[in-house]
Amino acid sequence: MEETVWARDHTEGFVLGKITELLDDEAEVTPLESRYPKRILPFSDIFRAYVEKDKDYDDNCEMMFLNEASLLHNIRNRYYKNKIYSYVANILIAVNPYKEILSLYSPETIKSYRGKSLGEKPPHVFAIADKAHRDMRVLKQSQSIIVSGESGAGKTESTKHLLKFLCDSWGADSGPIEQKILDANPVLEAFGNAKTTRNNNSSRFGKFIEVHFDKNFKVAGGHISHYLLEKSRICSPQGDERSYHIFYMMMAGAPEGLRQQLGLTKPDDYNYLKSACTRYFTTSASEKKLSTVQKSADQSKQGQLRDILLDDIEDFLALDQALSRLGMSDGERLQIYVTVAAVLHLGNIEFEDNPEDTRGGCRVATSKERSLLMAAKLLEIDPSELRQALVARVMQSSRGGLKGTVIMVPLKIYEANNARDALAKAIYSNLFDYIVNRINQSIPFQTSSYYIGVLDIAGFEFFTVNSFEQFCINYCNEKLQQFFNERILKYEQELYKREGLNVPEITFVDNQDCIDVIETKNKGILTLLDEESKLPKPSYTHFTEEVHKTWSKEYRLGLPRSSKLKAHRSLRDDEGFLVRHFAGAVCYQTKHFIDKNNDALHASLEGIIQDSKNKLIQTLFSTSVAQKGKLTFISVGNKFKTQLAELMEKLRSNGTNFIRCVKPNNKMIDQQFDGSLSLMQLKCSGMTTVLELMEHGFPSRTPFADLHAMYKDYLPNELKVLSPKTFCEAMFHSLKLQDKDFKFGVTRVFFRPGKFAEFDKIMRSDPENLKSIVANVKKWLVKSRWIKAQFCALTVIKMKHKIAYRRQALIIVQKTVRGYLVRKRHGARIKTLRDIRALGANLKKIESSTAQLKKDKDVITNQINQLKTQFDTTVDRIKSDDKMDPKTVESLYTDLVAKVNQQMAALQKKLQEQKNAEEQERLRKIQEELERQKKLKEEEERRQREEEENRRKKAEIEARRKQEEEERRRQEEADRKLALELQQQQEKLVQEERRYQEQLEQERQDRELALRLAQESNGQLEESPPMIRKSEAVKNQQANLAKGKYDLSKWKYSELRDTINTSCDIELLEACRHEFHRRLKVYHAWKAKNRKRTTMDENERAPRSVMESAARTPRLPQKTILDNNSQRFFRIPFQRPGGDQSKDDMQMCELSLEETGLTRKRGAEILESEFNREWEKNGGAQYVRPADRK
Ligand SMILES: Nc1ncnc2c1ncn2[C@@H]1O[C@H](COP(=O)(O)OP(=O)(O)O)[C@@H](O)[C@H]1O
Ligand SMILES: [Mg+2]
Repeated sequence: MEETVWARDHTEGFVLGKITELLDDEAEVTPLESRYPKRILPFSDIFRAYVEKDKDYDDNCEMMFLNEASLLHNIRNRYYKNKIYSYVANILIAVNPYKEILSLYSPETIKSYRGKSLGEKPPHVFAIADKAHRDMRVLKQSQSIIVSGESGAGKTESTKHLLKFLCDSWGADSGPIEQKILDANPVLEAFGNAKTTRNNNSSRFGKFIEVHFDKNFKVAGGHISHYLLEKSRICSPQGDERSYHIFYMMMAGAPEGLRQQLGLTKPDDYNYLKSACTRYFTTSASEKKLSTVQKSADQSKQGQLRDILLDDIEDFLALDQALSRLGMSDGERLQIYVTVAAVLHLGNIEFEDNPEDTRGGCRVATSKERSLLMAAKLLEIDPSELRQALVARVMQSSRGGLKGTVIMVPLKIYEANNARDALAKAIYSNLFDYIVNRINQSIPFQTSSYYIGVLDIAGFEFFTVNSFEQFCINYCNEKLQQFFNERILKYEQELYKREGLNVPEITFVDNQDCIDVIETKNKGILTLLDEESKLPKPSYTHFTEEVHKTWSKEYRLGLPRSSKLKAHRSLRDDEGFLVRHFAGAVCYQTKHFIDKNNDALHASLEGIIQDSKNKLIQTLFSTSVAQKGKLTFISVGNKFKTQLAELMEKLRSNGTNFIRCVKPNNKMIDQQFDGSLSLMQLKCSGMTTVLELMEHGFPSRTPFADLHAMYKDYLPNELKVLSPKTFCEAMFHSLKLQDKDFKFGVTRVFFRPGKFAEFDKIMRSDPENLKSIVANVKKWLVKSRWIKAQFCALTVIKMKHKIAYRRQALIIVQKTVRGYLVRKRHGARIKTLRDIRALGANLKKIESSTAQLKKDKDVITNQINQLKTQFDTTVDRIKSDDKMDPKTVESLYTDLVAKVNQQMAALQKKLQEQKNAEEQERLRKIQEELERQKKLKEEEERRQREEEENRRKKAEIEARRKQEEEERRRQEEADRKLALELQQQQEKLVQEERRYQEQLEQERQDRELALRLAQESNGQLEESPPMIRKSEAVKNQQANLAKGKYDLSKWKYSELRDTINTSCDIELLEACRHEFHRRLKVYHAWKAKNRKRTTMDENERAPRSVMESAARTPRLPQKTILDNNSQRFFRIPFQRPGGDQSKDDMQMCELSLEETGLTRKRGAEILESEFNREWEKNGGAQYVRPADRK
């Protein structure tokens, strides 16, 4: 037990320790470092450790034990050495360093990664970018790079580095295009990024940037798609956060003249900014440029904000330059700034009750008239019209009066506030769309063959209060997670199967059910929300009730009170819902769902804004359709759903590369690695599952043809002409790569993690080396061809022997059949002829006896001669008529016999008469001879009958064998069915277990998430009792009952051992021994599960799981259908020259008849008589039936 293990820890993730006690299904672990307390953990929280001092791995798959604990350890270890990147197979893990690492992204570094295959250099985003470009070239397929991670994990930074690498490496000749693609970033960030509590430079929108390449794979242009700009931030940033950078940049960095022209002072002066953080990001250098008019009260009091990448003052200048490089004139840029300022002034317009209005309407507060005028001036619309449109809404009456009459409905203060905010949001978000459009126009591409798209979209989000924005972004992440599962886990495993690689299967949680809850066409949450908006009086509580009603049976959707966080439990059922996402449960508050889902302006505002004299404003609102009816509006959710579907379509048709960003701490500081926080991110991003897959997997693969094409240029002619597969075989066998490092599939060759690079490096090394490789390949080719030729010759010879043997056998078959046929047809006649001939011999003897006759000699001789002619005619008749039936033949013969007998009698009589005693004696002998022949004939007939009988019996045996065979087949069929049923039952059990485990995992994840939130917000956690399966509960109860007298579950391992050694209480001793062995068994099972990584045993024919399940299926005993009373006899073919016969005999004797397989063997069963013959032939004593024994 002196093994070092990783034990789960709530803050560090895992700590090193030693198992000091085996307990009831758990173990006690004592951490190596004394500052961590001793703990008792289930085995699922303990992993074997192998820690080499100071050793870390580029690819996490290279570690000795592939589990989450070693993964975390390796990443942490590297992080503190400033190695922020590592791989899990082809997936890059990037830890945010929150500091600059020297020359990590320098131009020299960029150069050094160009054209190097993945794994050749230390892990880096550049390596991923280069791989994407290489895959694009080789596979002729567009590529996506999906960058994911929590807010602040470093997605946007990674995206920038990726773009920089692509543009620097393949865009240098493309002139300004390259710069423009890079310029897009500061512009997008100024308008779309903001400081949040989790990230100073948080992108509040998602983007998919495509870099397009021409047919020479050089940069040809670009295109940006963006998703879901967070609009609520424009009007109401919260707490310590800020609104979009551009507002502060203009106030801090715009030249004084411009600020005055736009009426910009300090953040405190604007309603849209003053309630949140009002400080600027500066550096100590730029800070001096600020005058007191620009500084907010907080800024003066608490000083500036600091971030290595942000500086509101300098960033404004950079933005202005970037905009101008993107092709915007001074005038156009000014218009953009004007529009931004207009939003701020618009926000300053306030309303008060209008005492003159009897319908409870409001008016613009007199103190805020100046803001109204300023906003109107900047937007170039008529101030009085703006005033009018803000406090009243146009409606077309459908009742009374003329249909279509326009009436003005005065708005209440809160309604006017909402209308103003809606206008501000519309202006700003349309401006953002416009800017993205302008960027796209400035980086057009004439011809595009392929593109590399980089997706940077917010990761999974959860706060104490979650609204529609979080709902959309988590929906998106749910889809991306599914895509990840599909690409990496499902697709990968399917490929292994198709290509016939023997890789054990692993399971993962399918989140389709969660996606269904959100997006199903007729009852998904998004649809329910749209339906609600179309009602005459939409209400969020009704919507929430509908959601719960529709999805009440779905595990993924729950009531707020099922949350683990106390703050959520106080919500009413109709105020929110809980979605159990793949990364944990999130509770959404539905209050603003309906407004946020609908971004249409009311008609009067839409009208006046379109009448603006300002060119830019006109453009911004030119596309919106006035008078959007309630029934025709396209909701925000619906639009996002469509955009997302398009995005997924693109991702599915491209090659994929993943970058998983990890945020090491929540404080945004360097050199601090929070273990449990990072571990959670690694698990959520599926890294632990991929690690499990890669234990036996092959992350790199290349079709034979591609590999061949890739290296063709490096090879001499004789190797160029080989077929791709032969080439690859020759290549691999001659390169002395280890067999376990690669595998040949059906269409491609696969490499273990990191091995492709090794191969690639060998192939591209200097000409000297290449020469020796070529020589080796040639040698291998000659060798393999020689072996093949030998094999062919051998096969031909074998074939010849086989043909000769068969011919011989055929002749024998023919001969036998012919003989049989002839015998059947002529047998009777031939036999009779033979008999007649024998009779003829007798006649001759009679004839010779006549010589002794003294008288009547002539008469007798005459008679005999007559008889002879009758013999001849009979013989002739039989010979000539081959259709004569046996009966006639028989009668002819008997006729002759009778005649001869008659003749004999006559002769005898004569001889009697002669009283020649001697003659008489001789005649008697002849008679005896005749008798003997008769007997022989009878014997012959009896034998024939017996044979007939035997044949019948054999036929009977054969029939019985057939019947038994049929019976057995039926029995086997039934057994198979039974086994199948049993297996299905078992599979169902396994599946239930898996579902239970998944839910347990989800619970754990939910709890961890809640814990994080609770820690962040000082909230409280409320534990619910752990889930227990019914079957388990029953089991526990039984176990408790069974324990009876002794409860040993609290006993220590050593106590158990001591009791066994010393106790005299037999019962106690027995119980201890039982418990001792049980614990040992649990421990060994854990150890076996955590064994060192191995590739599959060469001799294994099927995945272990298959073998195991086969072993589990019991072999059912065969039902015997034999009649036990009857004796059966079999011939056993022991003809193995040189074999150890006696042993075989012995074994054969010990088998049951069924097991010998003899009953199934045709011709093995013999008759009792046949057996007896054999028995006696070999000197066996005659068998006497028990009944006949004395
Ligand atoms: N590779 C890096 N090197 C140095 N600092 C980084 C790196 N990646 C991220 N950061 C720091 O982390 C902050 C947040 O990164 P960002 O890419 O904006 O996160 P995300 O887009 O995932 O929300 C950045 O502003 C920067 O300070
Ligand atoms: Mg970002």
